[in-house]
Amino acid sequence: MLFESFNLGSITLQSRVVMAPMTRSRAINNIPNALMAEYYGQRNSAGLIITEGTAPSPNALGYPRIPGAFSPEQTEGWKKVANAVHQGGAKIFMQLMHTGRVGHPLNLPEGAEVVGTNTTPVEGEMYTDQEGPKSYPSARLMTESDIQTVIQSYVTSAKNAIEAGFDGVELHGANGYLIEQFLNANVNNLGNSYNGDHQARAKFALEVAQAVINAIGAERTGIRLSPYGVFNNTGAFDGVTEAYEYLAKELGKLNLAYIHIVDHSAMGAPEVPRSVKEKIRDAFGGTIIISGGYDKARAEQDLADGLGHLVAFGRPFIANPDLVYRMKVGAEMQQPDFDTFYTPGEKGYTDYPTLEEAETAE
Ligand SMILES: Cc1cc2nc3c(=O)[nH]c(=O)nc-3n(C[C@H](O)[C@H](O)[C@H](O)COP(=O)(O)O)c2cc1C
Repeated sequence: MLFESFNLGSITLQSRVVMAPMTRSRAINNIPNALMAEYYGQRNSAGLIITEGTAPSPNALGYPRIPGAFSPEQTEGWKKVANAVHQGGAKIFMQLMHTGRVGHPLNLPEGAEVVGTNTTPVEGEMYTDQEGPKSYPSARLMTESDIQTVIQSYVTSAKNAIEAGFDGVELHGANGYLIEQFLNANVNNLGNSYNGDHQARAKFALEVAQAVINAIGAERTGIRLSPYGVFNNTGAFDGVTEAYEYLAKELGKLNLAYIHIVDHSAMGAPEVPRSVKEKIRDAFGGTIIISGGYDKARAEQDLADGLGHLVAFGRPFIANPDLVYRMKVGAEMQQPDFDTFYTPGEKGYTDYPTLEEAETAE
């Protein structure tokens, strides 16, 4: 099933293989460039490529060298990426990621600030190009007016993505970034109408989704969610399953293109119980992308079992630009080099050979 085509809204994917969103920190000055176009282009035999987390506004640029989608230069850069991906028949969605409290002022452009739903700093340190690892700062608590401004920034960046030739956008509602900061009871301390029971905490995600849908259409708008995720001081909270079931149901009413479920148990996080994934799938009623620790055999099994409709692969796509071909022929997989996940330049980025290139070199 993995290599069969799939209709996602009004677009047809050439297979059910999705490249998972992965921050690679090659966007010097936060502008997508030719190297990034080459990297994504090398992987254009996928069914769908979801880009790395991309900032809808300057405050959202919490990490070094991540791209944005709010300036004309960024839109021009993204056009090259979309074009390179479409040349191989793949479709491409831009992941819109607002880092919220998970950021450092040194990583932000002048005038921008770290804002979020909680003033307690995230535990641990964040890398900065200027001074290496630094403790997280205390974020400024977002006001209702900040929230409206941020919602507008998602709308503008989604429109920019479409202008750049993208097939849609994925709202990053996972891994402890801004949308999850609202959803997660452990980190939402806002003290306004976006804080309280699970309905109040879901309000921001639903308002962002609705606003983006109004701008570019429901069939072009997906969302990524990580129930039970622990990244960036999140973690499960009382009523977590009901909260995500409610959210999935509401997102279903909006006819969102898909929900992309994260399970980072292959990376040491607690496993998302299968029953929770099934509840989200059933409450939503639309397309589900499953992700986390997949290889071809597990992907085929979970597709056959109906757990999801599409399967996202992350690290295997870093090290194997021709992942689809390698899976098809049962070739050996190259292993990714962790040291170059976030370093600038082509090393560990565009220099992983395809099977053909590796064989020619032997
Ligand atoms: C280098 C790296 C960067 C990542 N960046 C993002 C990101 O920007 N947005 C996101 O939603 N997930 C991100 N992830 C998580 C992946 O999308 C994926 O869920 C994870 O790698 C598990 O899938 P895998 O076992 O197939 O690698 C990242 C993972 C890696 C390894």
